[in-house]
Amino acid sequence: MERLAAEQRIEELRKQINHHNRLYHIEDRPEITDQEYDVLMRELQTLEDLFPDMVTPDSPTQRVGGAPLAAFEKVVHKTPMLSLANAFGEADLRDFDRRVRQTLGRDEVSYVCELKIDGLAVSLQYENGYFIQGSTRGDGQTGEDITQNLRTIRSIPLRLTRPVTLEVRGEAFMPKRAFEKLNKEREAQGEALFANPRNSAAGSLRQLDPKIAASRSLDTFIYGLGELEGETVESHSQALELMGSLGFKINPEWRVFTSIDDVITFVEGWVEKRPHLPYEIDGMVIKVDRYADQRALGFTAKSPRWAIAYKFPAEEAVTRLVGIEISVGRTGVVTPTALLDPVGIAGTTVKRASLHNEDIIREKGLLIGDSVIVRKAGDIIPEIVAVLPDRRKGDEQPFHMPTHCPECGSELVRLDEEVALRCINPDCPALIREGMIHFVSRLAMNIEGLGEKVVSQLFAKGLIGSVADIYYLKERREELIGLERMGEKSVDNLLDAIEASKQNSLERLLFGLGIRLVGSKAARVLAEHFGSLDRLMQATQEELMAIDEIGPKMAESIVAYFSLPQVGDLIKRLEAAGVNTLYKGVRLAEAADLPFSGKTVVLTGTLATLTRQEAEEKITSMGGKVTGSVSAKTDLVIAGEKAGSKLEKAQKLGVAVLDEAGFLELLKQMTAH
Ligand code: IVH
Repeated sequence: MERLAAEQRIEELRKQINHHNRLYHIEDRPEITDQEYDVLMRELQTLEDLFPDMVTPDSPTQRVGGAPLAAFEKVVHKTPMLSLANAFGEADLRDFDRRVRQTLGRDEVSYVCELKIDGLAVSLQYENGYFIQGSTRGDGQTGEDITQNLRTIRSIPLRLTRPVTLEVRGEAFMPKRAFEKLNKEREAQGEALFANPRNSAAGSLRQLDPKIAASRSLDTFIYGLGELEGETVESHSQALELMGSLGFKINPEWRVFTSIDDVITFVEGWVEKRPHLPYEIDGMVIKVDRYADQRALGFTAKSPRWAIAYKFPAEEAVTRLVGIEISVGRTGVVTPTALLDPVGIAGTTVKRASLHNEDIIREKGLLIGDSVIVRKAGDIIPEIVAVLPDRRKGDEQPFHMPTHCPECGSELVRLDEEVALRCINPDCPALIREGMIHFVSRLAMNIEGLGEKVVSQLFAKGLIGSVADIYYLKERREELIGLERMGEKSVDNLLDAIEASKQNSLERLLFGLGIRLVGSKAARVLAEHFGSLDRLMQATQEELMAIDEIGPKMAESIVAYFSLPQVGDLIKRLEAAGVNTLYKGVRLAEAADLPFSGKTVVLTGTLATLTRQEAEEKITSMGGKVTGSVSAKTDLVIAGEKAGSKLEKAQKLGVAVLDEAGFLELLKQMTAH
């Protein structure tokens, strides 16, 4: 391609990509599918590879990929990043309003009310429209330069819609779903869990290697305009509009009110709505709207007098830490759990709280017997927020992490730089038991009637000692019948379910084996790629790494796993019992003429008979693609109970919609062929 043509095409592609980026990440109304987006990105990448001198820092290809840093540079903030004074109820808000009106010497004031996003404050600097630097708040005067990490956040524009020079401030955060997904992955890989979305956002942005932040689905809401060159803005509400038009993501829930009564009704109304938001908020922020009024009100040493944070009534309670229980997971990671005097918080009784890892116990200075503040935040597991040392009586006992595995007695170790302690004895009963529980679980072999309790019982009674033994249980039917809560009928049901699971497609078996770093997604990729367990077992590390989704660490772990002699024996026994080791879905290469080929499907609402994962599996196994949002390119929307805006949108766009019954009928017809 000629230089000139390339230059034009590159410019055009960047415009298009930025436009779709904005629709997707900021306005939440995509017009093209992920696939179509990828095609544009790939074309741009190819052209930039051909003409490397045309790569500019604001190119959409430049979000990821910077090299890891040795340390963060310090950044001195142009104006200090202050914090807000708190209001804990209606009375505090009325006091605030009284002070404001008194200082201004008049009764009419406009307030902007916003959500207080629970993430971490960031400052973003733009020069002539280009994003040049982003930093953390730090101590308020000096923060750290985290530009490389912030560039990976899609809602942060690399280039504004106009060439202005300005600073904006906002909150970087991790949406609840991304947080839960991240912790699930970390659990599956035996890594220490993050306590809450705020910590995981902060942890992600403090990584020196920007690839980590890039992989973490972070997002932003911008809530403040700092210095702006060459233009004047009269009020905060104007600033929000302006920043929105420049390309920043602004939280849409802001409102302007002229009376404190309306402010109170609005902020209190959010107490109820808060759990339904896809991200965490810890309160509301009330700001005097007019900049002239803000200037007249000024600042105290720590915070502006023109704004206040309204804190929601805490979903917290004080109780006693009566003990710490240690459990050993499937990967050998040892996890402490706090045992609490039962206490009611926001409608449920809390008896346990996750402590995640040993460092948390030490950081908080927890002693057994301590009074602690426990928080139940939204849909997240309860956690200990703080200790109340003033309430100590003197008989509290320090807690020591065991040095040896509570189940097998072998010495616990810390691998590499991990926080987590692990038992690495492959014969540890805890590892074997937890491994079997994982093997039969829903996303793995999915054996109904074989839950945690039954597996533990069978294991304790010596009826199963490895996952292969599960397939030889039918020879021990009589012994099973005698067990706790096991009648003849339930034993037969269980044996039937075990028998049926032999027909599972390879990816379930692969995931179930619990190979380190191989999650359910990777298992699917491997099964699809190799088609049989046999082929996979012969694969070299290079062959594995040649697959897009498989990195060097996972490749190494897979090869190491299959080279273990006991693994060879295990697989022979599984095969001898008749367990399927072939991929039964559709190999990518053969996918062309399947019922859902080339169709983009969106699932919304809850299905009564299928989990989302199962529905997705059905669609993808028949060649379809499942995406998250409805656009004109969507072929079909499957709407379960309580389907909301996606269903509305589908109806508006005239996209075909099926309810659950219709979907099941369609599946039946399709599989009948
Ligand atoms: S305005 C002078 N607006 O809350 C400080 N802050 O203590 C002006 N925050 O760490 C802050 N959402 O990062 C403002 N809509 C919002 C906010 C917000 C979250 C955070 C902010 C700061 C803390 C204030």
